[in-house]
Amino acid sequence: MAHWDPAQYLQFKKDRLRPAEELLGRIGIENPQLIVDLGCGPGTTTRLLGEKFGAATLVGVDNSGEMIAKAQVEYPRGEYLHCAVEEWKPDKRVDLIFANAVLHWVPNHQELIVKFAKALNAGGALAIQMPDNLDEPSHRAIAQVAGSRRWKGLLAEQLSARTQLSTAGEYYDWLARDFEAVDIWRTTYCHVMPGHEHIVEWVKGAALTPFLSVLNDREQEQFLSDYLEKIRAAYRVQGDGSVIYNFPRLFMTAIGRG
Ligand SMILES: C[S@@+](CC[C@H](N)C(=O)[O-])C[C@H]1O[C@@H](n2cnc3c(N)ncnc32)[C@H](O)[C@@H]1O
Repeated sequence: MAHWDPAQYLQFKKDRLRPAEELLGRIGIENPQLIVDLGCGPGTTTRLLGEKFGAATLVGVDNSGEMIAKAQVEYPRGEYLHCAVEEWKPDKRVDLIFANAVLHWVPNHQELIVKFAKALNAGGALAIQMPDNLDEPSHRAIAQVAGSRRWKGLLAEQLSARTQLSTAGEYYDWLARDFEAVDIWRTTYCHVMPGHEHIVEWVKGAALTPFLSVLNDREQEQFLSDYLEKIRAAYRVQGDGSVIYNFPRLFMTAIGRG
């Protein structure tokens, strides 16, 4: 299993939190009693939810022990379950299922939509955000490096495990079967990075974790050097020396029928 490093992930805390804030801003429910933060990571999204819905019980679910440990420190008001999203079974119906930047890690996550509908109270909300960037230069570069002669013997499995998102129309059809008020939108964030190395640092914190998890220190260093070379070739340097890292994300909200 991928080894998540909360400190690496949190290097870009403000930029990574922005989609979660914008997703939260589109949830029109009032006074939820029970909220589940699926793939809660280091607890920053759990805190965000707690700050908006002060009276709610908050449950964070994540299958990384490192992330759960960090979340317990970051936001002790939350209750945390060390559990995979696929295995998660609520004891009782919930009012908000929040899944920010997690379901793209779950193969066949589309099949979970029915389970989410059954887990929600009538009028409860489902809120999902997933990076939609496999076709971006940053992620094509992962495929190029991991699939190269040098690395494919070690990394072919990790490469084939990457989850392709469905289209907005397909998600709409799945959601509309069991939910009301389905809303889907796509935003491309243009993150201004001081240099190419910062894009590598960002990707190290998430998309590269399964790849780096199976390499030793020396291999990691070499892999990252190969990757940086691709990133340098793929992203133009701006007039002020910065580099713009385009990052498309797919958002969905829907209201449960109970
Ligand atoms: C990119 S982080 C997002 C964390 C948090 N939601 C946020 O927005 O800051 C992805 C998280 O999903 C977790 N994750 C990945 N696959 C998972 C699965 N199948 N079940 C539960 N958690 C998973 C990882 O451990 C990691 O903490």
